[in-house]
Amino acid sequence: MGIETSCDETSIGIVKDGSHLLSLQTYSQIELHNKHNGIVPEIASRSHLEKINTLIDLAILESNIKLKDLDYISVTNRPGLLGSLLVGVQTAKALALSLNKPLIPIDHLEAHLSIVMLENKFPEYPFLGLLLSGGNSAIFKVESPDNMKTIGDTLDDALGEAFDKVGILLGMGYPAGAEIERTANMHSKQKGDVSIFPKILKEKSDKVQFSYSGIKTSVIQHIKKNPEFKNKLPKLCYDFQNSVFDLVERNLLKAIESIGIKTVVAGGGVLANTTLRDRMNKLATKHNFQFIYPEKKIYCTDNGAMVACQGFLLLQKYKTNSTDFSISPSRENYNYETKA
Ligand code: KG4
Repeated sequence: MGIETSCDETSIGIVKDGSHLLSLQTYSQIELHNKHNGIVPEIASRSHLEKINTLIDLAILESNIKLKDLDYISVTNRPGLLGSLLVGVQTAKALALSLNKPLIPIDHLEAHLSIVMLENKFPEYPFLGLLLSGGNSAIFKVESPDNMKTIGDTLDDALGEAFDKVGILLGMGYPAGAEIERTANMHSKQKGDVSIFPKILKEKSDKVQFSYSGIKTSVIQHIKKNPEFKNKLPKLCYDFQNSVFDLVERNLLKAIESIGIKTVVAGGGVLANTTLRDRMNKLATKHNFQFIYPEKKIYCTDNGAMVACQGFLLLQKYKTNSTDFSISPSRENYNYETKA
């Protein structure tokens, strides 16, 4: 069983042999946070508390197993919102102790990259991990299931965050990724079409680095100069997507070149974007690297099945129901060795 409560999804996944999904029960809090234009941590943790037991019951019911049949319980304990993490972790600890099952603390970002196992994709280590979500835009070198080093990160906003913030500027709901994609798809590119936005991070550098706060400023300036901007929303969304995805491509090519690894495993909510998937697949063919990502869009966003998959990979390391681990808002501050 995998338990995920790091942000605004309460999700329980039950997986057999690390490769077969028995049940995935997710409650998304989008409706609760929508009116606030972003996630309110206190609302998030209270909602996790209200839903988690019911979701566990539903997952067990759908899997057609008994709680005592579980081989292990894995739970996201980092990174994330502290109050939200606490709900999942305390629930997992209680379950593991009462059932006397191994308990496995999971890094949420590592878990995003192991869900491809459910689609029978088992990349060989080392590989490059590309994570594009509401909280992260980063590329990693993944040496083993729990050894993932950051190669490049964002200087400011994450990619999903940029979609969501631009969505607010354009009067869309939260989160706005899918709506921006749908609107961009209405634009048909004409010959000689010039982008509204300048290139992101223009200067030539070997560094793998993301930055998405500047394009937000460009959108604000464009809106100020063009009060009628809503009449040409598809073009604006199309150009926005192109600019932000250009930077993903440039960074990925830099990472492949500098690290010399030709397998990329991608995950995170923004990977649900079909334009991004198409661009990445074309890039992989052109530059001869393997691009692996979850085909099923529900596997891109936060879910308990990815936590169960990651737990499967780490089961040998955590054979006891020891509750001697805590939660952490970040990856960096978590000392894996002493807490494991
Ligand atoms: O991975 P995720 O569920 O949550 C975390 O951030 O941990 O990702 C959510 C993010 C949101 O920012 C949302 O706007 C974005 O993924 N997203 C998309 C699309 N669907 C979801 N971004 C671009 N295009 C999409 N189709």
